[in-house]
Order: sequence, then C-alpha cells, then structure tokens
Amino acid sequence: MGEELQRWILMVTARAPTNIAVIKYWGKRDEKLILPINDSISFTLDPDHLSATTTVAVSPSFTSDRMWLNGKEVSLGGERYQNCLREIRSRGNDVVDEKNGIVIRKEDWQRLHLHIASYNNFPTAAGLASSAAGFACLVYSLAKLMDVKEKYQGELTAIARRGSGSACRSLYGGVVKWQMGKETDGSDSIAVQLATEKHWEELVILVAVVSSRQKETSSTTGMSQSVETSELLRHRSQEVVPKRVLQMEEAIANRDFGSFAKITCADSNQFHAVCLDTSPPIFYMNDTSHRIINCVERWNRSEGTPQVAYTFDAGPNAVMYAPNRKVAGLLLQRLLFYFPPDSSKTFSSYVIGDTSILEEIG
Ligand code: DP6
Repeated sequence: MGEELQRWILMVTARAPTNIAVIKYWGKRDEKLILPINDSISFTLDPDHLSATTTVAVSPSFTSDRMWLNGKEVSLGGERYQNCLREIRSRGNDVVDEKNGIVIRKEDWQRLHLHIASYNNFPTAAGLASSAAGFACLVYSLAKLMDVKEKYQGELTAIARRGSGSACRSLYGGVVKWQMGKETDGSDSIAVQLATEKHWEELVILVAVVSSRQKETSSTTGMSQSVETSELLRHRSQEVVPKRVLQMEEAIANRDFGSFAKITCADSNQFHAVCLDTSPPIFYMNDTSHRIINCVERWNRSEGTPQVAYTFDAGPNAVMYAPNRKVAGLLLQRLLFYFPPDSSKTFSSYVIGDTSILEEIG
C-alpha cells in the first residue's frame, strides 16, 4: 500500500446500556468460557442513563491495539479482552467504503490494529454493572466495524459473554434471559429477548446510588468463592432458580407486578444470603442498603400488596422497580424523607425512565 493510502481511518461509535438482573447470575461452571450455573433474567436500562459509549477505529497507520477507558489508557492484555477481539476478528468480512476508496479484506482484520475509546456515564465498578455495558458495547461496535453477521441468533451475545457474563444480556433491550445452555463449548449459552422495551412501558426503574466507591470483592472473585464454599448456592442453582425463572417469565408476560415484585426481592435476598454463606463471607450491602429494604418492606406490608420491588447487585446500591410513574414519585418522596440529601453525603438518587434498546449512534 502506498504512503497516501495509509492515511485512512475507519470508525464506528455505538452505545449500550447496562442491565439489572431480577433473577441473578451468580456462579460459573466453566470460568474460562464464562458459563453460568443457572439461567438469569434482566431488564436493560434506558441508554440515556447508565450506558457505555464506545468508538472503535481501524487504520493501517496504527501499530498496536490500544484502548482508553474514560480517557485513560488501559491494557488490552487481559484474557477477556483478548477473547472478544479474537472471536470478532475471526468473523470479520470484507468492508468496502467506496466514497473514501477504502477496501479491507476479511483476512486483513487479523493484521490491522484497532484503537478503542470507551466512556461510561456512571461510576465504574461500583456494583452498577459497568462491565456489562462496556463489553456489550465493545462487541457490538467491533461487529459493526468488521461487518460481522451472526451465523445463529445470539452469536454476538456468546462473544460478549466471554468479556463479562452479564454483558451478554445488554445486547438486547427490554427483558432478556441468559440461557445457561448445555454445550461444553458454550455455543448455546446465549441471551434471548423475552419482551421488547414496549411490553411493560409503565414500569419505572429507580437507582439509588448509596456509594460510588469501588467494591472490595469483585463479582468474578466473589462468585468463584461461593461456588467453592456455599452449599446454599448449590441448592439455589439446582432447586430454586429453575422454578423461579418460569414464575418470573409468567409474571413478566402478564405484567403481574405483585408476583414480579415478590420474586425479584426474594431472588436478591437469596443472592445476598449466598454471599453470607460463602467462606469467608462477602458483605455487599451496607446499613443504608438494609434501611432501604426495611423502608420498602414496611410500605409493601402496610398496603397489603407490593408497591415496589428492590434488588441489589454486588454492591450497596439499590435498584427499585415501580409499576408506574405515580408510585415511583411516592417512592422517591419516601426515600428523600428517610434519606434527606442534605444530611447524608452517601445517598443520591435519580429516576430512570423506560427501558430501551441498544442504540447505534455512529
Ligand atoms: C450480581 O457479569 O460482573 O450483577 O461474568 O465474572 O464478569 P463475570 O461477572 P459479572 O457478574 C454479575 C453478577 C450480578 C448478577 C447479575 O447481573 O446477574
């Protein structure tokens, strides 16, 4: 290629929201391939709030693969990044940009280098599933750049799964199930969309950021310790979750908020009970998290039917589901009464609207 022709650069920008599980993924049967021990179900959030935006660029003038996260260069040397890059590259197709005279042959993807810049619009690693949005966005934007076509539905989700398990669920909007699968190569451990974001439009998701500090035990480490030491986790994955997934699917299909709320809270509480049952025990929630649970439980009990549901991931932040904007407003009022923003520097909150599909903006 001549000097002049080396100057081109081709790029794609995409945005992917995070997702919040209502039936939790906790535990792997294969750590290398990231294969879970149970199915999980989540809601993908609105990309305006908790999302990652990633630009991927390719140019013959790049001399190595490089990545910047929130403006700071990070290493791409980790196995998870390498697995995603390798899987996508091997599926790349011919890309022809006639307007700019750019021709990339499928075999070129093996030798051309990439520059990747990703931004999160929320705290990284604070239990708000930043890796889910990040890896989903990385895989999606690379697949667009290299014109990757899925050979089977969900193939891209299986690649995002190699970055972070929960990332596979962020490739679709609305309600998503990650099927654990049976195959040892992980080809059927994919995400499927159960319902679009239009299905339950009135539902409001509210995130209460209790602390934006980095968590002490990562999800990866925590779940590996739980698999090794928690008997409760074995019971949960074999006896509890299979039934719960069916009940949850039915509750969501019928937009039955009462059942949905009961199952969501029970699953979050069992997940945290598994963390306590782990040796050494893992504490993800703090006093503020416990007070939020109390506040919601008391309200639900006083009304006789569930008004809102709460769920907590591997951190102290609460995610709450309300059946509509009116109840979400009442919830916010209660939270602001019990946790006045002025007196507590450790609590802030913002309302997240409808769930929405992954959106390509570039
Ligand atoms: C508590 O997907 O972050 O949020 O696969 O090791 O990257 P790795 O773990 P990760 O775990 C998420 C755990 C969870 C529950 C969930 O999102 O289902």
